[in-house]
Amino acid sequence: MDNITKIVNDFGESITRVDGDIPVNLPTKDGDRFLFISHDQSFLTHGLHKYPAKFFPELPRWLIKRYSQENDWILDPFAGSGTTNVEALLSKRNSVGIDVDPFSRFISKVKVTPLAETELKSAQKILLESILHYRPSLISDSDLPDFPYRDNWFNKEILWELTYLKKQIQSLDTDNAVKDFFKICLSSIIRSVSNADDNCTRTVIRKKLNKLVRPSDALNRFAKTVSVKMPKMVMFSQNYPSGITVDFPEDMDARNIKYETNYFDLAVTSPPYVNAVDYPRTHQLEMYWLGFAQDSLTALKKQNVGTESVSANDYKHQHKIGVPEADKVIANIFENDPRRAFIAFKYLDDMRKNLIEVYKILRNGGRYIIVVGNNRIRGQLFENWKYLMPIAEDIGFEIETYFGSEIIKHFIKVPRGERINTDWVLVLKKTRE
Ligand SMILES: C[S@@+](CC[C@H](N)C(=O)[O-])C[C@H]1O[C@@H](n2cnc3c(N)ncnc32)[C@H](O)[C@@H]1O
Repeated sequence: MDNITKIVNDFGESITRVDGDIPVNLPTKDGDRFLFISHDQSFLTHGLHKYPAKFFPELPRWLIKRYSQENDWILDPFAGSGTTNVEALLSKRNSVGIDVDPFSRFISKVKVTPLAETELKSAQKILLESILHYRPSLISDSDLPDFPYRDNWFNKEILWELTYLKKQIQSLDTDNAVKDFFKICLSSIIRSVSNADDNCTRTVIRKKLNKLVRPSDALNRFAKTVSVKMPKMVMFSQNYPSGITVDFPEDMDARNIKYETNYFDLAVTSPPYVNAVDYPRTHQLEMYWLGFAQDSLTALKKQNVGTESVSANDYKHQHKIGVPEADKVIANIFENDPRRAFIAFKYLDDMRKNLIEVYKILRNGGRYIIVVGNNRIRGQLFENWKYLMPIAEDIGFEIETYFGSEIIKHFIKVPRGERINTDWVLVLKKTRE
């Protein structure tokens, strides 16, 4: 296998480096460490929209091919931007992606929906012509969307341009699926033309960045992004397999999966980390523009596993998860910060609920593969992956194997130095009913 090399890192640890596609039969032993170098981050529809802590496509592609067959059913209970589902589709497996976030489901849906090239091209032509005819006087103040701190997030000219683009997409005489593709293109430039930092998972304005956004930036960036993304969507559509189903149900939660027992052959996921990415806040501007949120994001935040939205009553007392190593760390955090101790406890408790649900819907012999890293909470190392293993075993899973995947590319700037450096891939197997 000529894309595999053995390397030793700065700490003297030996690591297997794999460039590009991961061979299906790659040997793995418990505790092995790998450095996977992705070549496909924006392959076909994968690069349509940024998403924090997104899978690199080669990882779910490999796991899907290794642990399932064509026409099988695959589940990602924390689907995010649907990387698992795109890969399941391309490998001719049916799939379901569950995510509590409507914006994530929207991105995922667009990424798995094939579109006709002729429709796309004629819509693009109309949109480009309308950009050439743009004048600020075509927009009145009453057209502008209303959302909190709108005029701080966006300059006036950009507000008009985005409103104009949105209106033009809306009025296209074409299928909703084609409009949705252009909405995603529009969404993908929103952060870059806002006054917020482009590279932070939190949507924040950093004065010291002196970010400069000029009039016409929204129109120009939109035209450019469409010209880059359209050929990829066309190529995806040409590779679209027939007879395969992909669903993103709206009424489910990773802790409440409404499918029959034994329905799925494989589940692959990367759950959120405790205390790391606040997904609703990351996408708040995009959600306001696309109409997925109006004002408060609190209700959505509370549904998130790993949420920081907890109430004072919850953390009056120390809680225990029943895994001694985890409870020791939670007790240490509790000494300085009872609130964060509860957040950490709740995360593991929610993950337990998720493991119970996935166990139920997996067929006997099916696997649940979780890709999860460590992080720091109040200076304490919180080793999620280590704590999830005994919880999974308690539910009935067998730990088939586990290995590390080093992270080298960060889209995420995790605050307070709480960086995530190695993801651990846990292969859990259901061996009895
Ligand atoms: C690490 S991201 C997944 C990224 C994904 N692997 C990808 O490639 O885009 C975790 C996701 O879990 C979702 N999530 C958080 N709590 C959830 C819950 N209770 N049920 C389902 N999804 C949830 C978040 O909205 C977020 O999209």
